[in-house]
Formats: sequence, C-alpha cells, structure tokens
Amino acid sequence: MNVLLISGSTREGSLNKCLLDAVAEEAHNLNHQTTSLPHQLASFPLYHADLEKDATLQNQLSLLRQKIDSADVIMISSPEYNGFHTPHLHNVFTWASRPAEGKPNSVLEGKVLGLLAAAPGPFGGVRMLPRLSSFAADHGCWVHPRYLAVGDMEAKINENGHLTCSETRQKLRNLISRTCNMAEPAQIAEPA
Ligand SMILES: Cc1cc2nc3c(=O)[nH]c(=O)nc-3n(C[C@H](O)[C@H](O)[C@H](O)COP(=O)(O)O)c2cc1C
Repeated sequence: MNVLLISGSTREGSLNKCLLDAVAEEAHNLNHQTTSLPHQLASFPLYHADLEKDATLQNQLSLLRQKIDSADVIMISSPEYNGFHTPHLHNVFTWASRPAEGKPNSVLEGKVLGLLAAAPGPFGGVRMLPRLSSFAADHGCWVHPRYLAVGDMEAKINENGHLTCSETRQKLRNLISRTCNMAEPAQIAEPA
C-alpha cells in the first residue's frame, strides 16, 4: 500500500518526525511504500479565503491534493499542544479540505487514517488523540480506533533520533498492519 506520512510538527529534531521515520522503516518491513509530505506542502500560510486566489498556492494545493488522493493510508503523528493537535496540522487539514474546482467533495473524504503522538512527557499526547480522531472523522476520514501515544519519547530514541525501543516498534507494526487492513477495499462499504 501507499502510505502517506504527515507530521504535526516540522520542528528541527521533532520527536513526532522521529516517530514517523520509524513508521516508515516498519512500513517498508511490512512491504508498504511510504512518502512524506514535502516541507513546502506542509507549510502553507495560515488559511484565509482570499489566499485561495493566489496562483502559487493553488499549484501547491493541487500537489497536496494529489499526495492525499494517491495515498491508500495516511499515518499522522502530532504533538499535543494544550490537549489538542497543533495549529500546523489543523492548517494542513483546513487547506486540504477545500474541494478542487468542479469537485463536490474534499480529497480527505473516505481516507483511512492511523493516528500517533509522541511527547517527552509520560502521557505522549493521549488527551489529543481522540480529539484529532473526531476532527478527522468530521472531514469524512475513516480513523483506525487504536491510536498510539508514545510517552517518554526522548528516552526511546538514540542521539540520531532513531527509535530504539523494540516494544514501541512492535506497537507501530501493529498499528500499520491494522490501518492498512482497514484500507483494503472490501473493508469499507460505501453507504447505500
Ligand atoms: C504550546 C505547547 C503546548 C504543549 N502542550 C503539551 C500537552 O498538552 N501535552 C504534552 O504531552 N506535551 C505538550 N507540550 C510539549 C510537547 O509535547 C513537546 O514540545 C514535543 O516535543 C513537541 O513535539 P515535537 O518534538 O514533535 O515538535 C507542549 C508544547 C508546546 C510548545
């Protein structure tokens, strides 16, 4: 399957980017292809309706739509900011939710998502995940209910940001497999 990876943080040394690097490695071990959202697509200006007329942004937006459209599964890892996902991730959803000209629905409609969070604290962002799940469902996404919050993340990576915790790696493999299974065409029935 084609798995798109989206980080809720673009920070240098981001723990969530480290977690997504491990997701990519484990997805490859499970014979899936991964692609990350390129930086310019992850860094749209804060959404404002007037900006939709900007030709450069329109081009970037159509690239963002293509990336999402061609993904079978999207794995998102976001920091928790005061109990919620980040403004950055919210902005990506807001831009992506805008339907292409002549299309009735947003490209997010019907996408299968796996959700993760990483934090230096013990809870890993667990308060945020059900809220992000609900938020994504409101965009028409199918979210796997077993999301994963990785606490004490700094203790689980080495100096290169490589995830060294085998238990967390096993949990990643489980979440990737379950989410990809959910994206098998037979699993999701179109509403009558
Ligand atoms: C504005 C702000 C709010 C935060 N709120 C939370 C929080 O509610 N829960 C939590 O576990 N960590 C919280 N943190 C700490 C983040 O988990 C930590 O900065 C984390 O490293 C951010 O993810 P990143 O490394 O991928 O950028 C917060 C950090 C910031 C800057």
